[in-house]
Amino acid sequence: MGITMHRLTWFAAALTMLGGFCSVAAATESEARRATDLAAKDNARISAKAAALLKQMTLEEKVGQLVQIFYFGGKPAETMIGEGKVGSILFVTDPKQLNRLQRIAVEQSRLHIPLLAGFDVVHGLRTIFPVPLALASSWDPMMVESAQASAAAEARAVGIHWVFAPMVDIARDVRWGRIVEGSGEDPFLGAAMAAAQVRGFQGGKSVQSDRVIAGVKHFAGYGASVGGRDYDEVNLSQSELWNVYFPPFKAAVDAGAGNVMSAYMGLNGVPATGNRWLLNDVLRKTWGFDGFVVSDANAVNSLTTHGFAADGQDAAVRAVTAGVDMEMSLSKPVYAALVEAVKAGRVPARTIDVATRRLLELKFRLGLFDNPYVDETAAAAVLAAPERRVQARIAAERSVVLLRNEGRILPLNRASLRSIAVIGPLADSPRDTLGPWVFDHDLKETVTIAQGLRDKLGAEVRVDFAAGVQMPPRKYPSPFAALDKTPKIKRWTDEERAAEFAKAQTVARAADVVIAVLGQGQDMSGEAASVSSLELPGEQQRLLETVVDTGKPVVLVLMSGRPLDITSAAAHVPAILEVWHPGTQGGAAVANLLFGDVAPGGKLPITWPRSVGQVPLFYAHALSQEPANVAKRYWNEEGAPLYPFGFGLSYTTFAISEPRVERKAIPLGEAVHLAVEVKNTGERVGDEVVQLYIHQRAGRALRPIRELKGFQRIMLAPNESKTVNFELPADALRYWSTADGAWVQDASVFDAWIGADSSTPNHIEFEVLKRSR
Ligand code: NOJ
Repeated sequence: MGITMHRLTWFAAALTMLGGFCSVAAATESEARRATDLAAKDNARISAKAAALLKQMTLEEKVGQLVQIFYFGGKPAETMIGEGKVGSILFVTDPKQLNRLQRIAVEQSRLHIPLLAGFDVVHGLRTIFPVPLALASSWDPMMVESAQASAAAEARAVGIHWVFAPMVDIARDVRWGRIVEGSGEDPFLGAAMAAAQVRGFQGGKSVQSDRVIAGVKHFAGYGASVGGRDYDEVNLSQSELWNVYFPPFKAAVDAGAGNVMSAYMGLNGVPATGNRWLLNDVLRKTWGFDGFVVSDANAVNSLTTHGFAADGQDAAVRAVTAGVDMEMSLSKPVYAALVEAVKAGRVPARTIDVATRRLLELKFRLGLFDNPYVDETAAAAVLAAPERRVQARIAAERSVVLLRNEGRILPLNRASLRSIAVIGPLADSPRDTLGPWVFDHDLKETVTIAQGLRDKLGAEVRVDFAAGVQMPPRKYPSPFAALDKTPKIKRWTDEERAAEFAKAQTVARAADVVIAVLGQGQDMSGEAASVSSLELPGEQQRLLETVVDTGKPVVLVLMSGRPLDITSAAAHVPAILEVWHPGTQGGAAVANLLFGDVAPGGKLPITWPRSVGQVPLFYAHALSQEPANVAKRYWNEEGAPLYPFGFGLSYTTFAISEPRVERKAIPLGEAVHLAVEVKNTGERVGDEVVQLYIHQRAGRALRPIRELKGFQRIMLAPNESKTVNFELPADALRYWSTADGAWVQDASVFDAWIGADSSTPNHIEFEVLKRSR
């Protein structure tokens, strides 16, 4: 009965998701086809209109179209808009305000050119989905696509045309704060997530009316900053760039992304925002990107800070000639200097024309010349739509990763519980539940973990909450603090601190089970949020040890935007669930997971280090002169990670058969087919993410010890089996060879592993044969 009920609930959830997705997918496909046809017909018309408009424009007006400004109110910005000196604004999300500014652009500027409105909609606008690193942990691109389609609908409803997402930077250093915004360490998973998000945001190459332009960022290499310090320089080999850091960008471009944002930092000695090789040779020429490039905020201006450009005009010249069409400026656009620069012959007039035309065509394509305004009355209904919250809950359920479950303490059995203690500074904090990069959320709509448990357990089980400790403030305030509407937390006095700690202890002692919700606050990851330590901030470790010492069963619910140092918890706390920042419905999702209405099925999109000293640590490293002898990595600690990439447990168990390969020897250039049988050997329905890794034994270059090349998330009922097939097209066996300066494929013996994470021993070999001449 239990299993049947459980299964029904799970199926219901899955069906809701699938229903949502299928309609999105069906709509996406057919609408995309229709849109492509229309776009083809419209192209000539649009291009003629843009050309005609361009002819009427003065150089000042053209340059104006290439300027984007932050709008936080104020007359100077409005004057600039009215004078036609601004092509786009960012950070306005109120439809009335957007219409007001649009009216200034359309009614006051000489040529009545509407504004393009952009904003950071990274994981939802009002309905907040789990942070991107969490979404990647679902290993479910379809779900991620539908989540971002939902975010797009909310954004478009308030009048936003373009979002600065997805962030597709590969990140292998968990100290880097922005790791939370991306899909983790792996190019294959990263590419799948990048493409899914672009499809979700745009609904196809031509942007649908309830979607937005996707702004893929930050091109390129930002995630590899020295020491994981934000904005620091990046030095990456050609092999790392092409094989690891570029693939998600390439996938996003192939999925039709309309915009790319250039990164802040210097890449191999040249700032990304003035990097012609990146923006022109790779992005436009090699990949055929035909959208527009925007700089990151103030990044053009900072070309002088880099010691690259001599002054503002030089910075503008270097950026626009490198391929940055639009400057995201703070308030005083450096691009204004392009007028003089063109007159002085430093920039060809054609360069400005090409960039301006791109922007004008986009505005025509979006229909902004026909109707620049958003329907102010419609937004409220879209934002409040309840189905989106169901979607956010399912997304959170699918993103959570179960790291440890000793003695099968989870799922908890509601029938045998009379009281639970919910402990920790993050347990009842709505703002932290949402995570970084949200501005338009509604805290009242946010279900914290404590609230989710109260809602689930009703009056039958007592839920006692005690924060125990406070989250310490950041040493340096977050640059986003000023934008955050959350009421500031009052710091406890010494007496309050002692009393709250004691209360947590008392509450824990009185409960049947303790749920400790610990980790990092929302402002401890994200931009300008790098760390030098992975320890639980403040006094959380002491709190955890104290509740464990009560002898009560403890479940550690980790809320964070990055892996933390939980090596001690991993030995002493029986159950650990990484919930990341799970979003608007996070608490409802976590309650469902803790009580087994759904089983966790997420997997780590990142290697989980034991300590900060192991960082950067990633699974796809190359072998050196030693075999993979992790024991030799350090004399003072284990070399292996705490949890490998791709790891995550379920409430059930799975058996994965030995891999089969269709042909043991495959002619070079042909696809390889592999398969396994997966069986649910436990007593509950659950999901497994079946993962395929390969290794090339010999060739023109050394290749990583393992590389992810395929994955499938499947759901199985108890005793149910399924064949999981993988096709490795020839492309999947190619890599960028620095020696050749090209993509190559070698004839070689390959190892393949198919299993439940990147450490699986489940192995088979195949050989790729030289092409016979
Ligand atoms: C700077 C960040 O690096 C970028 O990701 C963001 O889109 C812009 N600011 C705008 O907020």
